[in-house]
Amino acid sequence: MLVTVHNVLTKDELASIRKLLDGARFSDGRLSAGLTARKVKKNEELPVNDQLHQQLNHIVMNRLLQHPVFQSAVLPHRVATPFYARYTEGMEYGNHVDDPIMGPMNARYRTDVSMTLFLNEPDEYDGGETVIHTQTGEQKIKLKAGDAVTYPSGSLHHVAKVTRGTRLVAVSWIQSMIRDPAQRELLFNLHKTRETLQNKYPDDEEVVKIDHAYINLVRMWSEI
Ligand code: NI
Repeated sequence: MLVTVHNVLTKDELASIRKLLDGARFSDGRLSAGLTARKVKKNEELPVNDQLHQQLNHIVMNRLLQHPVFQSAVLPHRVATPFYARYTEGMEYGNHVDDPIMGPMNARYRTDVSMTLFLNEPDEYDGGETVIHTQTGEQKIKLKAGDAVTYPSGSLHHVAKVTRGTRLVAVSWIQSMIRDPAQRELLFNLHKTRETLQNKYPDDEEVVKIDHAYINLVRMWSEI
């Protein structure tokens, strides 16, 4: 399931992030890649130990974790602090699946869901789409600044070559409380229906039962 999360960041937040990134020193993205991904990765990243990281994460993480669509679509258990990546002309990230386990030895997490948050506008660069292989074919994703896409970390994906301008993104990985993508998708759909029904019929007994069924399904399937 691919989910677009709209308006994670406001215009003001985006402006602050751009200002921070404009003065940043990026390094070769291959340094943070696993052995397989290293062969196809061609981008730049903000070094994790850079002091800007904390300032950026403070803005991005707060907004992401509070976003209702992110919460209900991903059902996050652990969320990795994002990487900030820059693709200038000629850069790309070839086909790969994301590493299954990430994080330092004392804070390992499984990657169930991957997230790309777009930090600049689509007309600022050509190419640079996030391309995800799904059962219904390739999905090319290029969103407006402040929007994010989430997708299963195990799905084959790549970033198309940037042919003009610069692409700026934040990327993160999430261990979901619901490991199985099919169960997660079912819960997300049920959640949306439950919300619609709650708004339409706030006092209806049957709607309350649907709400309880959703809650208990999360309890049944979640692992934390
Ligand atoms: Ni990836």
